[in-house]
Amino acid sequence: MHVLITAGPTREPLDPLRYLTNRSSGKMGYALAHAFVGAGHSVLLISGPTELDVPGGVDFIPVETAAEMHSAVAQSLGHIDIAVFAAAVADYTPASVAAHKIKKAAATLTLELVRTPDILGAARGEFGFTGTLVGFAAETQNLEANARDKLVRKHCDLIIANDVSKPGIGFGSDHNEVLLVYPEYNEALPPASKHTLAHHLATVILELHQRRKP
Ligand code: C5P
Repeated sequence: MHVLITAGPTREPLDPLRYLTNRSSGKMGYALAHAFVGAGHSVLLISGPTELDVPGGVDFIPVETAAEMHSAVAQSLGHIDIAVFAAAVADYTPASVAAHKIKKAAATLTLELVRTPDILGAARGEFGFTGTLVGFAAETQNLEANARDKLVRKHCDLIIANDVSKPGIGFGSDHNEVLLVYPEYNEALPPASKHTLAHHLATVILELHQRRKP
């Protein structure tokens, strides 16, 4: 199988020195890349900046911004069977990038932000992807309802949802506790290390891919 995984945060520049980003460590996406490659599949990892080592045997495209991730995914999806979007993509980016360092002056500074491209949302329509599509949802409230809304709106086969307000799991942590949201039902998985969870999720996603094949 050819598997594409997006991972990590994106980094949206404000000026030559500064950027907007988020707390994603990339651990879940990298653990998934490791699990799929260990199971004998061909993996392309498209990742924003992280401190992690790229797992051996994984093809790697490093990106910084949401726009760069969008075009890397657009160019790569053609030969992909399974796409897993684990990246924490910035929803907004500065409307313009200052050519020089923004100097401090007035007591307040207002930034104008514009929406970034929704990469997962573009997969089915804009990119014409027909393979198995898996998204993540990091929520702080109404986990199941928000994940199910995402599943339907973005035409996914599975949303892996986690409540990032729970202490000790999710962003930055080595552990995670997820709810699998399918079109027909949900399945809550027990808390586990991201490594253990990634192996289980890779198996679940491969089974899902087999089931949905005509
Ligand atoms: O809507 P929300 O950002 O919470 O959706 C999360 C899912 O969508 C994740 O799978 C994430 O990788 C993906 N996403 C994306 N492009 C964006 C925003 C989110 O691919 N611009």
